[in-house]
Order: sequence, then C-alpha cells, then structure tokens
Amino acid sequence: MELLVEEAITEYSDRHTSEVNPLLRELLAETEARTGKLDWSIGKVQGQFLRMLVGLSQAKFIVELGTLTGFSALIMAEALPPDGRVLTCDSDAVHAEIARSFFARSPHGKKIQLEFGDAMKSLSRIQSGTVDGVFVDADKEQYPGYYEESLRVLKVGGWIAIDNVLWDGEVVDPENNDPDVTAIKRFNDKVREDNRVDKVMLTIRDGIYLVRKR
Ligand SMILES: C[S@@+](CC[C@H](N)C(=O)[O-])C[C@H]1O[C@@H](n2cnc3c(N)ncnc32)[C@H](O)[C@@H]1O
Repeated sequence: MELLVEEAITEYSDRHTSEVNPLLRELLAETEARTGKLDWSIGKVQGQFLRMLVGLSQAKFIVELGTLTGFSALIMAEALPPDGRVLTCDSDAVHAEIARSFFARSPHGKKIQLEFGDAMKSLSRIQSGTVDGVFVDADKEQYPGYYEESLRVLKVGGWIAIDNVLWDGEVVDPENNDPDVTAIKRFNDKVREDNRVDKVMLTIRDGIYLVRKR
C-alpha cells in the first residue's frame, strides 16, 4: 500500500501511539507468515483509533464486515464492556480459522462472534436500530449496499467507519477510470451528498470515512 502521508510523519505518528499487546503483535506476525496479507490489516495506528472510537462512543454492539485474521475485531473488543459484542464476518476459510485461534487465546475473545460467509447475509439478519458501530472493510464493490444496510441496523447516533476510501490516493486523479477507483469515487460522492449522516473523511492510513447517523 502507498503511504499517503510522508514516511517520516507516519513513523512519528506510530511512535506516539499506544503499543498493542503481545497477542495482537503475534497475530500480525502470523498473518504475514501464513497469508502474506499483512498490509490488508489496519495495523496499530488505525487499530488504536478504532479502539478509542469504540470506547468513546460507549458502544456495546459492533458489527465488522471483513475479519481477515481478527486484528481489528480483537482490538475493538478490548474497548467493549464485559457484556459487549462484536459480530464479525469473513468468507475466507483460512482467515476465519486463524482469527478463531487468536480469539480463543484472548480474554476478550468471548465478546466476538465470527460468522463464516458473505458479509451482506450477516448484515441482513441483524435487527434494525440495534447496532452502535459498524466497521466496513470487506469487498469494496459492495460498499454502497453495505452502507445502506449499515444505516438500517444502526441506532440513531451510531457510527460507520468505512476503510480504504482514499484508495492509495488514486481517488484524486480525475483521469483514473480503473473500475475500483471509479466505484470508490462514486461511493464517496454518494456519502458526501447524504443528509441522513454527519461525516468526516480522515487521512489515516488508506483513508477512513467516519459517518454518524442523524
Ligand atoms: C481488508 S481485509 C479485512 C482486514 C481486517 N478488518 C483487519 O483490519 O485486520 C478484507 C477481508 O474481507 C473478506 N471478504 C471479502 N469479501 C467478502 C464478503 N463478500 N463477505 C465476507 N467477507 C469478505 C476477505 O476474505 C478479507 O479477509
């Protein structure tokens, strides 16, 4: 992944952010060793941002679309109260198996329910108006559908954090007609025009669109 912010500033920000615990560090190392997809994971700075968001919003029920090996689910679970819950889903069997093995080793793992299968199916089974926060990090072409379903399941005042909305910075290139880039640009414009939510686009890592349901 391209760095959107200069490398020295990214490293400085990393050094001034709380460390994650040894289990999460081991999870990231195992993600690289077994899948080679370390850069798919949000990593430390974005992880600590989500952890803080969950804590500050006093969330009790979080939904995550796209578990990978469980880093983001576990770091959000750490900020939940003992009766809090993360429902996370992934359609890749290897990712799900690694995630489950780390959830089993964490004291926060019992707050996490991993559904193996399509994220939209998991979302569609959730009752309307019951969720405090949704982290959207699965297949990008489905973002518009995930967004609408997330708004349905959210409580008023609940938030959605949507990952990779700056797409390596390619969204600012008007000449770039790549299908993924075009889809993300269209999605970002849809959110900008949506008066059902308050919104802020953050330049953390690959870009996060944070929206709050009015
Ligand atoms: C970028 S990774 C998630 C990273 C994870 N949130 C983290 O930060 O550690 C995206 C994940 O979405 C999963 N995925 C892709 N399409 C999916 C779908 N339709 N339903 C469920 N999971 C899907 C992939 O298998 C992959 O593990």
